[in-house]
Amino acid sequence: MNTEIIRLSDAARGISRLDECASLSDSDDAKIAKCAQIIKNGGLVVFPTETVYGLGGDGTNPDAARKIYKAKGRPSDNPLIIHISTPSEAEKYAYTTELYYKLAESFMPGPLTVILDAKESVPQATRGGLSTVAVRCPTDSVARRLIELSGVPIAAPSANLSGSPSPTRPEHVIDDMQGRVDAIIDGGECHFGLESTIVRINSDDTLTLLRPGKITPDELEKIAPVSIADAVLDKLKEGETAISPGMKYRHYAPASPLALLDGELDKCLNYIQKTGQSNQAFICYTDEADEIRRKAPDLTLYPIGDREDLISQAHDLFSVLRRADKAGHTYIYAHLPKREGVGLAIYNRLIRAAAHTIINL
Ligand code: TXA
Ligand code: MG
Repeated sequence: MNTEIIRLSDAARGISRLDECASLSDSDDAKIAKCAQIIKNGGLVVFPTETVYGLGGDGTNPDAARKIYKAKGRPSDNPLIIHISTPSEAEKYAYTTELYYKLAESFMPGPLTVILDAKESVPQATRGGLSTVAVRCPTDSVARRLIELSGVPIAAPSANLSGSPSPTRPEHVIDDMQGRVDAIIDGGECHFGLESTIVRINSDDTLTLLRPGKITPDELEKIAPVSIADAVLDKLKEGETAISPGMKYRHYAPASPLALLDGELDKCLNYIQKTGQSNQAFICYTDEADEIRRKAPDLTLYPIGDREDLISQAHDLFSVLRRADKAGHTYIYAHLPKREGVGLAIYNRLIRAAAHTIINL
């Protein structure tokens, strides 16, 4: 398949896209309109969002959903999120509740996905055969405009090949999706860098956190009581069914083995050096990189942001995993993150990338 790469203007590729009042130029708008036509015709378009790039198709068209699963190499029982341009559009596709609108008031548009009971207007293929549907209203103005102009909800998983980290930069998308989709919108770097927070609204008006992200449990607690699904922090036990199908798959797995080190820096460095292996890498904190270079000059370093700067770490995590992966290291190490605030999302992605290999030092 010939994939058209559609590069937006530098202004549209910038962070100002998150400003709701920022308007797109006529030429960018025309490029997005062309992509909307592809979606309407049942084709696939990769588009930027504030979290990660999405692989989009018409959420009301079962053939488009099947094409998405195929392009991604994803099992078809792992449902897709439908992206809408205003919170109330959810009415057409799901049974909303008062709590949904309370969440919408605080966090939409934004990096929050809500699981609701589905209406028949969402094909089974889109929702992986479940009775529920995942709904998200992104804040990124390119994503919103694409949805508006398409006139349909856009079903979109992250635009990576199944098993590789979610794409946060155009080059990641091109690596994974060129030749598999009709068009790729190059909108520059994604603002946040980890996928949206996913919550399920329970019948007793509590929330279950299915995937941590930028919107933290503390923020959600202000709206309703939150419990954290076991699979967010731990491995699913043998035979256990996942409440979110995506939890059962190993995600974001680098080709080289990855282990998480739980201990002070010096202990981590001693541990790595004792293995005696060559060509090892360490995903480290930027403010500790100089010290590590002095103490362990043979180690390849991937600084990911200062120790306390969780936003920079979230922004760079997937991009660092992809870079480290390409370098073909014998082993990659990273610190075990704290589970507080946005750290919970970083922890959740890293333990999966490491297939739960945690070394206590
Ligand atoms: O930030 C994001 O959410 C990105 C951008 C593109 O919007 N999308 C994304 O989609 O991360 P995906 O498909 O890679 O991850 C969605 C997760 C999957 O693990 C899937 O199993 C889960 O959401 N999911 C979708 N529908 C669900 C449902 N009805 N019930 C429970 N989990 C669901
Ligand atoms: Mg994904």
